[in-house]
Amino acid sequence: MEGMYYIGIDLGTSAVKLILMEKDGTVVNTVSREYPIFFPKPGWSEQNPEDWYENTVGGVRELLNGFDASKVAGISFGGQMHGLVILDENDKVIRPAILWNDGRTTKECDYLNNTIGKEKLAEYTANIAFAGFTVPKLLWLRENEPESFGKISKIMLPKDYLAYKMTGVHCTDVSDASGSLMFDVKNRCWSDQMLKLCGVDRSCMAEVYESFECVGCLTEKAASEMGLDTSVKVIAGAGDNAAAAVGTGTVGEGRCNISLGTSGTVFISSDKFGVDENNALHSFCHADGHYHLMGCMLSAASCNKWWMDEILKTKEYDREQESITDDMLGNNRVFYLPYLMGERSPHNNPAARATFTGMTMDTGRVDMTQAVLEGVAFAIRDSFEVAKSLGINVSETKICGGGAKSRLWCRMIANILNIRVCVPVTEEGPALGAAMLAAVGTGAYRDVYEAAEKIVKVKETILPDEEIAGRYEKKYQQVKKIYPALKPVFDEFD
Ligand code: XUL
Repeated sequence: MEGMYYIGIDLGTSAVKLILMEKDGTVVNTVSREYPIFFPKPGWSEQNPEDWYENTVGGVRELLNGFDASKVAGISFGGQMHGLVILDENDKVIRPAILWNDGRTTKECDYLNNTIGKEKLAEYTANIAFAGFTVPKLLWLRENEPESFGKISKIMLPKDYLAYKMTGVHCTDVSDASGSLMFDVKNRCWSDQMLKLCGVDRSCMAEVYESFECVGCLTEKAASEMGLDTSVKVIAGAGDNAAAAVGTGTVGEGRCNISLGTSGTVFISSDKFGVDENNALHSFCHADGHYHLMGCMLSAASCNKWWMDEILKTKEYDREQESITDDMLGNNRVFYLPYLMGERSPHNNPAARATFTGMTMDTGRVDMTQAVLEGVAFAIRDSFEVAKSLGINVSETKICGGGAKSRLWCRMIANILNIRVCVPVTEEGPALGAAMLAAVGTGAYRDVYEAAEKIVKVKETILPDEEIAGRYEKKYQQVKKIYPALKPVFDEFD
């Protein structure tokens, strides 16, 4: 095992990020490749699975450039969750994948939650319907594209498409399967009731693995495409949030991780299966063999990316944040709601929209940049409040995702949530977690816990500041009134 490499692949929404890791967790190389995302209508969101695979293959080649490829022992994944990928009987992708942040299924969610009923859904799957989940999309497809629906021979989640292309095994893992609404989370298997409800045959569904289990080795074709040996093992991997949790050491009982990626998530690991009675938080399997609760906001770091790239037309993210000084924290009069793609947790409303409120003639660019960062942190707090209301007491969190590169943003989170924020050495949570799962699955570590203990290191712990946290507390009490006041307006928008 010494001297071997493990490849972690984070199949994200904006890019695929790959890392090459040694057994002790040293990351010796990283590669990132972007691919397009399509928004065919407002609130819709799609990608081409072929783009994922092509960029992954090219990315692996680039990753191994200058390294001994024969030392790669295993590959694993962290993948954007919930996406609907469908293949026909010739293994051709039938239509572009419908992604986790797609909001087209309002009608289907309404049917599932109100006609089938939340209680039944929760009984079968431990969750209710949210617009981005896989089952509502299948129902949408059946109704709106019956021809495509009729051709389905395999249903898979985004990262599982990569595993399928690499191994020929139609597989998934328990954490990702949990977000389909087709999965019996408590018993870690497909739900027959949900299969029946969707009119889907069991043969279309993947073989289910624990995240750290080996699903097979590379096919000749995949091995030669990537410049690897056919002895390389492919490990099932996890949904990106569970993978990120592994990569930040958020395993075992009662640990918390916040991810500031395209989406923003609050992830709480647990040894025991549990459900939020109001179903505002998702109840999913974890990649460590147990469970977790999670709140997911649809637009987190993507709000800042949108504000910088599309509105301010700048790539100088750090420079835009430089003039936000301590005395300004908790004193901003401008508020931002981050609902660029509608919202999942805790509002469950695809019709919600982003807004700025509170501007006056003296409002400037910096106030609005600050409001965007704070708006995301306040929305994270909304999910955090739900966890608190369930009696979950979190005083410390890890943090990861592109947004975690901003120390200012991490400080805002620490003060707005009033908790300690531990910043790991690598903020690439899902890719590191994926490489760690590859290491566990090839026998380099006994289990995910051992890998987390040996590999994950914290570089800084940010403590909340009493004064700033106090100011933010007052602001939060104001901010949380904005969405309920605007909801009736959002519901009338086209
Ligand atoms: C989680 C979710 C997002 C995606 C982002 O439920 O939808 O975090 O996994 O890739």
